[in-house]
Amino acid sequence: MKIVRNTADLRRLVKAAKRRGKKIGFVPTMGALHEGHLSLIRRARQETGWVVVSIFVNPIQFNRSSDLRSYPRALAADARLAASAGANLVFAPSAGEIYPPGFQTYVEVTQLTRRWEGEHRPGHFRGVTTVVAKLFNLVQPDVAYFGQKDAQQARAVRQMIDDLGFDVRLKVLPTVREPGGLAMSSRNALLSPDERRGAKILFESLHEGKRLIQLNLRRGNGILRRMRAVIQKVPSARVEYIAIVDPETLEPVRRVKRPALLLLAARVGKTRLIDCMEVH
Ligand code: PAJ
Repeated sequence: MKIVRNTADLRRLVKAAKRRGKKIGFVPTMGALHEGHLSLIRRARQETGWVVVSIFVNPIQFNRSSDLRSYPRALAADARLAASAGANLVFAPSAGEIYPPGFQTYVEVTQLTRRWEGEHRPGHFRGVTTVVAKLFNLVQPDVAYFGQKDAQQARAVRQMIDDLGFDVRLKVLPTVREPGGLAMSSRNALLSPDERRGAKILFESLHEGKRLIQLNLRRGNGILRRMRAVIQKVPSARVEYIAIVDPETLEPVRRVKRPALLLLAARVGKTRLIDCMEVH
């Protein structure tokens, strides 16, 4: 497996792989790889002939500089993990390579990003769709793999692909969880052992919501109240938002129909975590 730092090398290697008839799979990440990322890389390897993993802590999607500074970075270990999961190339550019001086072009999905993460992290999705658009142009993948864990992100990227006519197939894969239910996340490394034990309450709350919907409860507010009550059992956990939404529009629903999507963001101690669950 090769690691490249600049776009010229990336383009050259991708072109060579395409000349050999390879279908290109692409997994964009910010590194600190865990089983969630590796599940995407493995699937890409099964379904395509040549897999590119990007590792880039994208500064323009962080709305707080402290969050950007504390984001875990581990390129050497990441490269080993990516290789073991079947990556053919790791693209790990510098910020200057992606955003050269004078950079001033952004991609914004307007409506799907208004609420939830978009409301609590102003500018976040503009940063995400801008970097993903740029990475799609550099890598020219046939198939791109994203995680359902970041459901709003995956939905916004799908909208961007459709609206701007990117010739990329999007695959969204299920959330990989720790044995207790906590969704794997690079930010889990920032939790103390105690907080980590408490953080599984997010999953338990989502699970309770799903259970109630499957029991045919229909009043969104009643279900949300009971989901909040679950989280309140862990004193270090603070809900930022909790919602039952339409999976297509991401707008909240009052009367729950299926499929529904449950969205949750909470702080556990100082660490902000998100999770979600689909109910079919
Ligand atoms: P990052 O948080 O590193 O996630 C990279 C990809 O891994 C995303 O598609 C995310 O949804 C997926 N992922 C994360 N945790 C997962 C889990 N537990 N199970 C399954 N998939 C999981 O998301 C980003 O980076 C960035 O916003 C990026 C798209 C790379 C743009 O900078």
